[in-house]
Formats: sequence, C-alpha cells, structure tokens
Amino acid sequence: MDTHIASTIFLLICFQFLIIANLFILEVHTCACHSSGTITGQAPPPGKCNSADSSACCAEGQVYDIYDCSPPVLRHTKANLTLQSFDRGGDGPPPSECDGRYHNDDELIVALSTGWYDRGKRCLKFINIRGNGRRVRAKVVDECVSSGGCDGGHNYRPPCGNTIVRASKAVWSALGVDETQWNILGIHWSDA
Ligand SMILES: *[C@@H]1O[C@H](CO)[C@@H](O)[C@H](O)[C@H]1NC(C)=O
Repeated sequence: MDTHIASTIFLLICFQFLIIANLFILEVHTCACHSSGTITGQAPPPGKCNSADSSACCAEGQVYDIYDCSPPVLRHTKANLTLQSFDRGGDGPPPSECDGRYHNDDELIVALSTGWYDRGKRCLKFINIRGNGRRVRAKVVDECVSSGGCDGGHNYRPPCGNTIVRASKAVWSALGVDETQWNILGIHWSDA
C-alpha cells in the first residue's frame, strides 16, 4: 500500500469519526495534533546546559510550542531526524527512559517525540527509518519530550517538537549521511 492510499484511508476513517462525533456532540482529536500550549524560555543557570551546541539550550524570552501528541503513525510517517548521544557524559539527558541504561553511540537506537513514544508503548521495539535513499532498523530506547522543557527536569533544553526521531551516530552512519550533515534530515519511519 503506498503512502497516498494509506493517507486516503486514514482520512476516510477520520471523517467517519468526525461524523459520528458530531452526532453525539463529542470532540475528537483523532485527525490532527495541535500544540497544547507554549512555554517561555529562561536562560539556564550558569553551567546547567552543558552542550557544545548552544542552540540546544533554552534561550531567554523565546517562546516554544509544546505538544502532548504527535501525528498519527502511518506506513510512512514523516519526521525529522536529529542527532543525540545516549552515552554517559554525552549531550543527552539521563539514562534512557525505557531501560534506565546508557547506550553506546554504536548502537542503532532512537528517542521518539512524546506522542510517538506513547507512554513507553514503543519501548525496546524497532522502527524502520528511510532517509537519504537508505533504510535502517533502530530500537526505541527513550522519549524526546515535546510536552515540556527549559527547566531543571529537562536539562534546560527546549521542548523536542512532535515530529522528531533523535538518533545515535550509528543510525546516521547507517543511512550513509556525511558526518558534516548530522544535524537535521527529513525521513519517513514506520513500526518494524
Ligand atoms: C522538518 O524541519 C523543517 C525545518 O525546520 C520543517 O520545515 C519541517 O516541517 C519539518 N518536518 C517535519 C515532518 O516535522
């Protein structure tokens, strides 16, 4: 089934929901994912956002959208791939949420935006990532929090965004992306 047919079917199901919902005067959030609000960034206390990449830390006064949801997962779900270390002392937060462990940068692993992480339902499951003309299978080990940020609990980092797959170096490498380009890449992913 190609993407077009998949999305058409999804939309049909969605509209069906809407019709039923209207009949019963219910509100449904099945068809779209909207921001659940904003937070205004505060500059991290000195030494509190340890990142070589300064844009990875919250900026004073900057307004960030937060999301409790992500778009529905289809056969080819659009996302942006970003880089993260899951290793001790890496640029990442504490040990991975799924198993409480640190992971080597050589492991094919990812963190998913809050909605896709789905309260841990995808923990230690595999996803297929297509990008740069290649495909790689990677394990979900963490959440990329899109529902909050910019405080101590989130290492003074901005909210993740709701369409993010944060991946280890190994994933970028397996996709054959040149190391100088390991910042953001449009990809499609699906449950493996
Ligand atoms: C990926 O990032 C670009 C640039 O920030 C943005 O325009 C685009 O909408 C993002 N794509 C997805 C699927 O979020």
